[in-house]
Formats: sequence, C-alpha cells, structure tokens
Amino acid sequence: MEYVFSDRVSSLKPSAIREIFKYAADPEVISLSAGNPSPEAFPCKEIAEISADILGKNPIASLQYSVTEGYTPLRARLKTYMKSKYNIGTDDDSILITSGAQQIMDLASKSLINEHDVVICEAPSFIGSLNTFRSYNCRLRGVPVESDGMNIEQLEQALKEEKNVKLIYTIPNFQNPSGVTMSLEKRKAVYELAKKYNVLIIEDNPYGDLRYVGEDIPAIKTFDTEGIVIYAGSFSKTIAPGLRVAFAVAPTPIFQKMVVCKQGQDVHTNIWSQIIVDEFMDRYDYEAHLEKLRRIYSKKASYTTYLLDQYLPQQVTYNKIEGGLFTVCTLPDGIDMQAFCKELINRKVCVVPGNAFLTDESQPCSNFRINFTTPTDKQLCKGIKIMGELAKELIK
Ligand SMILES: Cc1ncc(COP(=O)(O)O)c(C=O)c1O
Repeated sequence: MEYVFSDRVSSLKPSAIREIFKYAADPEVISLSAGNPSPEAFPCKEIAEISADILGKNPIASLQYSVTEGYTPLRARLKTYMKSKYNIGTDDDSILITSGAQQIMDLASKSLINEHDVVICEAPSFIGSLNTFRSYNCRLRGVPVESDGMNIEQLEQALKEEKNVKLIYTIPNFQNPSGVTMSLEKRKAVYELAKKYNVLIIEDNPYGDLRYVGEDIPAIKTFDTEGIVIYAGSFSKTIAPGLRVAFAVAPTPIFQKMVVCKQGQDVHTNIWSQIIVDEFMDRYDYEAHLEKLRRIYSKKASYTTYLLDQYLPQQVTYNKIEGGLFTVCTLPDGIDMQAFCKELINRKVCVVPGNAFLTDESQPCSNFRINFTTPTDKQLCKGIKIMGELAKELIK
C-alpha cells in the first residue's frame, strides 16, 4: 500500500531534536541536547504523598472523566495566582488547562489559522511550536532575535509585507533556543504593532519563573487591553513535564473555540495530574519550591559559564545565561556548524544544530544549542571540554 498523507502533514519531518535523542540514548554519549529539568529539581516526595492521598481517600475523583476546561479548583487558583503575582488576566479572559503548552499551540492554530495564513515567529524559535503551525498549512515568517528580543523594524516590515498574518508567536523569557529575554520596550512595541496591524499574539512563557540574574519583566499579556494576547504557561519546567499540565490565559471567545477543539483531541487534560498540581500549590510553599529550582539551576548556569569561558576558544561566543535551560554558542566564520556537530557526536557529545530552530532549515547557520540543566556537572565539564578541543582544532 502506498500511503498518501494529507497536504497538511506530508512535508512535516520528525523534529531534529527527537532524532538527536537517538544518539543521546547511548549511555556513553554526553547529551547537551535535551531540554529536560534536572533530576534533583523534581518534587518526587511531595508528588508521592499527594498521589497516595488522592488515590487513597477519593480515587474516583482522579480516575473519572472530567470537564474539558480543566479541574475547576486549579482554574480558580491559577486565575488568582496569575492576577496577583503577574497581573495577568482580565474579566474578559478565561483559563484553559491543557496537556502541556504544546497543546496550546495546537488548539490556537486549529482555532485560528487558515491555510496560507502567515505566522510570524522569532528566528530562531522552538521547533515544537513551529512544527505545529506548519501542520496547519500556514507559512512561517521569521524575524531575527537580537540580544534584547525580536528586531522590531523587521517585525513591522513583515507585518506590512505579508497579507494574511494571523499570529505573532514569541517566547519573551529565556527564549528557546537562544536564551534571550525581550526587553520591556520591545514587549510594548510588539504589542503596539500587533494592535496596529490587527494581529493576535501567542506569548509562550514556560521559563519565566526560572530567572537567575536580574529583575522580572512584565509579560506582554499585562498590556492586553484589546484582548489580542493568548498567554501560555506550563508546569513542565517548574513541577514535572511528565504530568503534562499547562494553561492558557486567553480572551474568552478564543478560549471557547479552543475548548471545542480540545474536546476532539483528548476530552480533557489528565485529571489525576491536574489534582496533583492543584494540591502541590495548595499544600506546599510554591514560592519556596520555585526558589529552590532557581538555586539549583543558577549554580549549574554559573558552572556552565565558567566552563565555556575556560574551554572554548575566544572565537566561539555564547549568549549570557540569565535564566531558563539553554544557551546558544556561535562558531566563527569558516567553521561548518553541521560538520562540527557531527564530529561532536563521533566524540560522544550531543548538541542541537541551530538550523533546526529556523523557519527554513537550509538557511546558513553557525550556532548550536546546549542545555545545562540535564547533564551532571561531570558531564557538563567533559562535554564542554571536548567541544572546546574540537573548536580549537578546527580554528587552527
Ligand atoms: C518555548 C517552549 N514552549 C513550549 C514547550 C512545551 O512545553 P510543554 O511540556 O508544556 O508542552 C517547550 C518545551 O520545551 C518550550 O521550550
């Protein structure tokens, strides 16, 4: 049988990162390619206690079908929490609990994107979201990311040139892959441009709570008087990604459409996981938990910075780590980044080639992403040392 796939998905390829995971599964390989939380960051004991309680005392509540919008106590908690802590959400917004933030991209796309619409995204950007947008047959237009976020002139140019722009997709905090954070000025500018050109924004913020240096910057959603921002939050990097619990704060008419779309996808987010998140926030000191994560990661970030300074030749630069899980290293002209990453695999170190995060993977690219939260300190040290040795050999 020759299988004929839909136009929507026939050109989709497996994520380069997932492909790289095949090499990373080799126990001898040092993987700097994943985007996983550190094993020591998981609140395992607390989750075990909560699970035992909910399954022991009222098992049916966590095993029964539930409502699509999400576990009501968790929605109510998040409404208060997001408003009081971040000034996010108005009376015109509603909260939808989703199966990971990845599902928010899918539900928003399904609800809003027509074939041949344009989605403006940062270049580079998170491959999982880009592939979701692609699967709705839209066209991606990348806007370069600078050290303080999207290039605003190029964003406006894209908005002027493109006819059917539906969405601007941005990751303003510790962007994946670059680690860059968008300045307040640029956040305001992105919002004003979206308003001017009548375009919606998806603000994807899985890393905002993981700031190790400097002050928090208000979310774009805090300016949203017009109802044009869909905010995506996730517990993947702050509690556990395997729970698959995330949430959208979206203008209510968009929320309602996303609810209908979610019914066709998974009916509701795993209710057992949702109760765990709600109870975790209720019973334990959530702010102290976040502080603990920041302590673990900022130590790893400082150590990584030390290693990069120590072992990389000065011609290889990297983005300063202020939060999140990643940074990007840039090779000097004359070194083939793809060949560099392949040779690193031969030497048992895995990183993600930067072109995997571009709207057009065939564009020239001289950088690669590294993750510093999953490897042990010993692995970080060995991996970065090997990386530096290879770079020095090639620069000679
Ligand atoms: C920018 C960004 N958005 C969304 C996600 C997906 O997160 P979730 O596990 O909540 O689906 C990730 C995961 O790495 C990410 O980096």
